Formats: sequence, C-alpha cells, structure tokens
Amino acid sequence: MTSIRAVRGMNDVLPGETALWRDFEAKVERWLERHGYRNIRMPLVEPTQLFRRAIGEATDIVEKEMYSWRDELNAEELTLRPEGTASCVRAAIEHSLVYDGPKRLWYAGPMYRHERPQKGRYRQFHQYGAEALGYPGPDIDAEHIALCAGLWRELGLEGIRLELNTIGSPEERARYRADLVRHLQKHEERLDADAKRRLHSNPLRTLDSKNPMVQEVVAGAPSLMDYLGEASLAHFDGLKRMLAAAGVEYRVNPRLVRGLDYYNLTVFEWISDRLGAQGTVCGGGRYDGLFAQLGGKPTPATGFAMGNERLIALLADAGRAPAPQVPDAYVLSQGEGSLESAFRLAQELRAGGLQVILHAGGGSLKSQMRKADASGARFALIVGEDELRAGEVSVKALRGDAAQTRHPVARVAAILKGA
Ligand code: HAM
Repeated sequence: MTSIRAVRGMNDVLPGETALWRDFEAKVERWLERHGYRNIRMPLVEPTQLFRRAIGEATDIVEKEMYSWRDELNAEELTLRPEGTASCVRAAIEHSLVYDGPKRLWYAGPMYRHERPQKGRYRQFHQYGAEALGYPGPDIDAEHIALCAGLWRELGLEGIRLELNTIGSPEERARYRADLVRHLQKHEERLDADAKRRLHSNPLRTLDSKNPMVQEVVAGAPSLMDYLGEASLAHFDGLKRMLAAAGVEYRVNPRLVRGLDYYNLTVFEWISDRLGAQGTVCGGGRYDGLFAQLGGKPTPATGFAMGNERLIALLADAGRAPAPQVPDAYVLSQGEGSLESAFRLAQELRAGGLQVILHAGGGSLKSQMRKADASGARFALIVGEDELRAGEVSVKALRGDAAQTRHPVARVAAILKGA
C-alpha cells in the first residue's frame, strides 16, 4: 500500500526540533506578558465573510490564498484563518472586550494560506500576534516596535532591520490613489499583468512590486507622503520621536504598503537578509477603521504578528538550540515481582518532581543497561531480585565513573536530587 504523506506546505515539527520551538515560545510569551499583554484564543475556523471584510476583497489572501468551503449542514461559508487580527477584533466586538477601557492582547497558533510553498513560506505556518485595542496615539505604535526590537535581543537574534512607513487616512489615500492610477496608466505598457490587474482594484500594492520594470515606473510616481495632512504627519512624527528616544533604528520606506487592506497611518516590517526571498519575520501597523468595518463601535487599534518558522530558522542557523532535556533516571528491573516494584518506584519519583523513564519491553539487564545509556539519563536505577528482597535499589551514575551503590528505596529520590 502507498503511504500517506502530509499536505504540501504543512509541516511536522519533529521531536528533534521541538526543544527550539518550545524555548522560542516560552521566551516570546514571557516577553509579551512582561509588557502587560494578556492571552486570547480564537477559533481556527471563522465565517469567510470576516476575512473578506477585514483583509479586503482585492488582496492576494482573499483573492487566492484562503482555504474556504461551504458547510452544507449549516449553510455557512467557512474559512481556515489566514491571520489573527480579524478574529481578534471579531472576538473583541462580540464580547465587548473594550467596553471598560483599552486592552493589550496576544495570541498564537497556526494560520493557513494557500501560497506556493518554498523555504520560509508554508501553507500552514505559525504566528505570535499582539493587538492593542482602544489606543489612539503613536506611543502604542512605538511600544509595539520597541517590544519587537527587545524581543530580537532577548532571543539573541541580530541583523533584523526595521522598515517603517505611514499610509495616512483612507481619505488621504483615496486622493493619492487617483493620482497614482493616472501615473500608472500613463506607463501602462511597462506594467506587468499583476500591476495591470490591480490598477483599479488595489493600485497601492503596485508600490512594492518586485518587478524591476514596474519598480522604474513606481520610482517616478507621486509620493503618498505629499498627500498627508497635519494629523497624519503629527502621528508619524510622534512615533519617530519615540523610536529615537528608545534607541530603535529604522528606515522609512515610502513604498511599504503591506498586503492587508485594514491598515491606516503606521505600517512596519522587520526583515532579515539571512532568509533569502522570505525575509520578513514580522509585520504590523495601525488599523483604526477595522472595528467599525466589522460592525463594532469605532475603536483605534494597532498590532503586529511574527512568523515563527522564519524566526526559528534564524535561531537554528545561529546555533541557538537549547540543550536537550536530560532524564534524571532510567529504571531497569529483572526477576519475579521486580517489574511491579520498578513501576511503583518510577511513579513515586515522578510524583516527587523527577523525570524518570521506566524501561519497557523486557530483555536482559545488559540490553536494558544499553537503553539506559542511550536515553541520556543521569542515573540507572536497578531493581533486581536481591534488591527486591532487601527493599533496596542499585543506583549507577551513567555519567562519570562513580561506583554502583545500593540504597533503601526511600532514599533514592534524595540521592537523585543530590541531597
Ligand atoms: P502578515 O504580514 O500577513 O501580517 O504576516 C505576519 C508574518 O507572518 C509575516 O511577516 C511572516 O513572517 C509570517 N508569514 C506570513 N505568511 C507566511 C507563510 N505563508 N509562511 C510562513 N510565514 C508566513 C498579518 O498576518 C497581520 N495579521 C499582522 C498584524 C497584526 N497587523 C496588525 N496586527
């Protein structure tokens, strides 16, 4: 029979890799909580309409990357979440989370996008996201950016640079968009199929086209910055001042627009040059219009999400994998009644906080001892017939060359704990 393989672009994380994942997760969560963010958990499946409305009809995600289906039983259109912001805002509206004041929230988990898989780009990938709901000022934008900068330090990652931009208000963007379309139309013969298709649906996305010919056309285009009013410029200036005060370096990239439509004012991306084409490890920005767009009370908000696979690839390349966990003991047994006694011993030691592997599958003492050695445990505990009769256990250190000793069962825990 042919074997069944995982779905393309959806990866197993194997035991040899999970130590790094869990170390990463523990550090990120500790860092988010240290900044006052509280955990929220949303479903993986949401009504398709949520993402259409939040992310925008004319985005790559909604046009071609969502895993959507019709649930005939309930006559519902459903989608595996491609990101977390829409769900988080949906949950905040549904449960009136900001009725008594603003909230700082974080979430984690798998996201699904039907993209072409390649290194750093998967169809199931994992994000940590943070959203600050109900805060209008640039101070919270700065908090998010500085939080990320601090996290890279905390993780021991270097060379992740920040690109920053402001895309103003929807009104400012509408005025700009009209002039941008006029400019692009003047050079339509040099636009590629993507840019032509987006000319009327989403022309701003053409600003960050990777096609050199399109980039040339874009280089001569009007700049969105020239269309911003006083309030938008003040927000951006406020943010830049705070980043300077926090010692966070950045480059203003006027072509940075992001791939989701809910943003206004601040947008940013953190990029590493060590990951090839998929170098963006984190992205975010402000989305003051999203609550109203999803039927809630207008509420200013801002957030970001990071790609775990990409950050973990950077950590692995930098040799940041933590040492594997070492079991305290491996318990062997031989002879009538000794397995039951070994079983009880292992249970008692575990209840006392020790990490204990009980040999399974029988075999000679010699072969059990080989397994004990291979397990990496600090001690082998041997329950043989003699030991059983005397109510004792033989303790053999598996690292170093201390002699094997025998002790009453009740003493073993203390010996393992070094007391
Ligand atoms: P995003 O830029 O679409 O933003 O995704 C954030 C991060 O997720 C990216 O920078 C990247 O590291 C990772 N990522 C995205 N797609 C893939 C993929 N196919 N494979 C591996 N990693 C991927 C958002 O999702 C917004 N919700 C961020 C946000 C939160 N904005 C405001 N609040």
